Amino acid sequence: MDIVPLGPGFAAELRGVTLAEIAADAAAYDAVRAAFEEHSVLVFRGQEVTDETQLAFSRRFGPLEVTKVGSLGVGTNLVILSTIDENGNVVPADHRLALRNKANQLWHTDSTFKRVPALASVLSARIIPARGGETEYVSTRLAWERLEGLLRKRLANSFAWHDYAHSRGQIAPDLASTEERAALPPQCWRMAWTNPVNGRCALYLASHAYAIEGVEQAAAQKLLTELMDAATAPGLSYVHRWRKGDVVMWDNRATMHRGRPWPAHEARLMVRTTISATDADGLESVRPPARQAAE
Ligand code: OGA
Ligand code: MN
Repeated sequence: MDIVPLGPGFAAELRGVTLAEIAADAAAYDAVRAAFEEHSVLVFRGQEVTDETQLAFSRRFGPLEVTKVGSLGVGTNLVILSTIDENGNVVPADHRLALRNKANQLWHTDSTFKRVPALASVLSARIIPARGGETEYVSTRLAWERLEGLLRKRLANSFAWHDYAHSRGQIAPDLASTEERAALPPQCWRMAWTNPVNGRCALYLASHAYAIEGVEQAAAQKLLTELMDAATAPGLSYVHRWRKGDVVMWDNRATMHRGRPWPAHEARLMVRTTISATDADGLESVRPPARQAAE
C-alpha cells in the first residue's frame, strides 16, 4: 500500500489496496486505520464498489449508524444522496432531494446533531455529473493548531449546541420535518476533540452548531462565524473531484466538508456509510460534564 499525500497538510490517497482486502485482512485494516488517524481524509480510486463491499469495509472501523428518519435509505446503514426521483428523472432545484443536497453544501461535520456523533463517513460516487459536484474538505485539526493559545484554552472548556433543524433552516424553513425535529433534539459537545491515538486536538463545530453554553447568543454566533471562517479560508481545502470507482473516507472528529454545486439538470448519486464514534475514539472527551455524570 502506498500513501500519497494530497494536501494541504492533510488528506492522502491510498494506492494498491481495495476495500474488499481491507475488510478481509487485519494487517491491511491496521495500516489503513493508522493512515486514517494521521491524514483525516483517505481517497481510494479505481474501486469496484457495491453496497456490500462498502458496508463490509465500513464495519471494520466500528458500529454503523442506522439511517435516520426523513432520509433515503431510512432504517438501513446506507445514506443515499440522490437527485433522481422514483421514475428515474432528475428532480427540479426546489425539490426536497435537491434542497437536501444544498444543505450538504454548507460546511459541516456529519452527525454532530446526533445522540452519538460520528467517527467517520465513507462516501462512494455512483452517478457523477460531468461538471461540478466535488466534495471539499478542511482540517479542523490544523484549524485548531492555528488558533492563538488563549482562545484554544477557552475553547477546550467550551460546549457548543448542535441542531439539525438549525443547518436545514438556513436552506428552507421547513426542510427539517416535524418528525425529524422530534427524533433529533439538540446535542451539546465540547468544542475540541482530542484524538486518543496521537493526542492531537481538533476544533469541533459545524453548520449544525448554533449556540455556545453560557455565552450570550450574539457573541456566540460571532465566535462561531469567526471560527468557521478561519477554518475554511481560501487555500486550506482539499477538493475531491469524483471519478467512477472513487471512495473517500473522512474523520468527522478532525475535518469539515461541503458538497459543491453542479448543473441542476444533471443527475448525481452518492452512497454514504457512517461509523459511530465510541469512547475508544475519544467520544468521552467531548461529552459535557453534566452528561458524563448522568449517563
Ligand atoms: C455527505 C456529504 C457531500 C457531497 O455525504 O455527508 O456531505 O459532496 N456529501 O455529496
Ligand atoms: Mn456530510
